[in-house]
Amino acid sequence: MDIYVDTANLAEIEQANRLGLADGVTTNPTLIAKENGEFKEILKGICQEITGPVHAEVLSLDYENMVKESKELAKVADNIVIKIPMIHDGLKAVKALKSEGIPTNVTLIFSAGQAILAAKAGATYLCPFLGRLDDISSNGLELLSTIRTILINNPDLDAKIIAASIRTPIHVVELASMGVDILTIPSKVLKQLENHPLTDIGIEQFTKDAEKFM
Ligand code: G3P
Repeated sequence: MDIYVDTANLAEIEQANRLGLADGVTTNPTLIAKENGEFKEILKGICQEITGPVHAEVLSLDYENMVKESKELAKVADNIVIKIPMIHDGLKAVKALKSEGIPTNVTLIFSAGQAILAAKAGATYLCPFLGRLDDISSNGLELLSTIRTILINNPDLDAKIIAASIRTPIHVVELASMGVDILTIPSKVLKQLENHPLTDIGIEQFTKDAEKFM
């Protein structure tokens, strides 16, 4: 299982990297807009910090400009992966980019049908957003499980799942239990995973008792 950090903030990426929690990075226009600096400069800084894949999303929504923008973004660094939205022109762009050896991640996937089309178009990664489904009382984890079953039962669909829009430690535990290939996790959730009140109580007790030997 790979863990990516879901942020464009360099400090958060460095912190995750120090814990072995940055096998890759996913960004999107919203995450990049939170940072200061030019779009490509922010990406360059991230690509210098980690050796794994750095996912950067195109802003265009038409086929020609998506392909053009993708080729420009791919020049930023060797570890750039192009994020393409799950729309008709996006599928066409994914197919074209596949033929040119440019890896793609089809993002904003919310159904198994969309995942099938993205995989058939040649996407390297499929990026379903489970938290946003939970937000509208749909079962995000169920979707991830269905997509994983489809990929297992159809080995010709050679794509990896990146579970995104992860909002809680329980999402992480359930996805890991499912065997999902990659989880992209916000720093806030990574921090939540570290902590447990019983650990704090145990440390406090050990420290108090160790005073006897200090
Ligand atoms: O990588 C996609 C992720 O950043 C979206 O998360 O919480 O905005 O649904 P969220």
